[in-house]
Amino acid sequence: MSELRVQANPRAAARAQPYAAAQALSAGGFAAATREISAWPGYAPTPLVALPALAASLGLAALWYKDERGRFGLKSFKALGGAYAVRRVLARQGLPAKDVTVTCATDGNHGRSVAWGAQVFGCRSVIFIHETVSEGRAQAIRCYGAEVRRVKGNYDDAVRHAAAEAARNGWYVVSDTSYAGYRDVPLDVMHGYGVMAAEIAAQLPAGVVPTHVFVQAGVGALAAAICASFWLRWGARRPRFAVVEPARADCFYRSLEAGRPTAVHGDLDTVMAGLACGEVSQLAWEVLETGADAAVAIGDASALEAVRALALPRGRDPAIVAGETGGAGLAALLALKERPDLRAQLALGADSTLLLFGSEGDTDPEIYRRIVGRSADEVLAA
Ligand SMILES: Cc1ncc(COP(=O)(O)O)c(C=O)c1O
Repeated sequence: MSELRVQANPRAAARAQPYAAAQALSAGGFAAATREISAWPGYAPTPLVALPALAASLGLAALWYKDERGRFGLKSFKALGGAYAVRRVLARQGLPAKDVTVTCATDGNHGRSVAWGAQVFGCRSVIFIHETVSEGRAQAIRCYGAEVRRVKGNYDDAVRHAAAEAARNGWYVVSDTSYAGYRDVPLDVMHGYGVMAAEIAAQLPAGVVPTHVFVQAGVGALAAAICASFWLRWGARRPRFAVVEPARADCFYRSLEAGRPTAVHGDLDTVMAGLACGEVSQLAWEVLETGADAAVAIGDASALEAVRALALPRGRDPAIVAGETGGAGLAALLALKERPDLRAQLALGADSTLLLFGSEGDTDPEIYRRIVGRSADEVLAA
């Protein structure tokens, strides 16, 4: 059986506790990002797909899957954050775009978004990747005119490298992770992600609020943006919130356990490339410290099972193309199926209605084909 652990958050806010007005993520920030991004050429809401047969097989009442594969042609939700932050950097600096270089570290998707934003808005980009980022993902970033540099170490090493090079060269760091003294840009990134929450609220059946949300976390920017959006929107009716992580990069799990940000070291090796982060983003922690109800740590085998389960659906459910990171929320549900004790801990039962974030499609088509045995086109044509 694949690895599976659940950590309840002892500091989780009571349902009735309002979203703290002092929080950096704000209703105004989310609304501004949604106004701007929904006016970009090529904008269209991504589908919210109901998967009733899969829900029934897992002993749940309903399952919705927000499928981000089609987002601006970039194949992941990250298109919303990095590119929006590039736009905001240019607006804040007031310099001609051609004189600006933006940079970031990435395990693939964020760098693709920053490179795309740089190309669209006319500035230069230099993107840092670490040792285990696949060549397919590096190539996808170069497609948008970025210079891609590979550095030794893991994602967190690449973050430090990008910051040092930016300081040396006068470049602007467009990071999705925040740390002491660096908050404005990651805040923009997170407000950009809120577009998904706004779309979901309009796509759910009228009056319906899911009972649970499972969101996969790397540095936690996605999870925190969604958590804050729903808290602001739905208050005490907001869903129970679980953060899903790879067992070997479980920094939120450990942080919730310890009650403070706690890093995970080592190579953080996992097939869930987008989640191979060992340090929580400060801004994300500020929301999830009380906004998350639990963390779930899963093994790689579950992630691969989820990719296949979405590609080869049950009953009349549609086929969905998801990468290893994109299917992580479902991976947790699949693993939990055999563990009634842990399901009870998460208050999951036959009445539960689940919302999952399909945060990426086949961002590396070659890896996708190896996992499923066919290409995304073949899966969708079947
Ligand atoms: C496809 C995908 N899903 C989820 C995440 C996690 O997002 P965050 O690092 O904001 O937690 C990432 C991050 O790279 C990603 O690429």
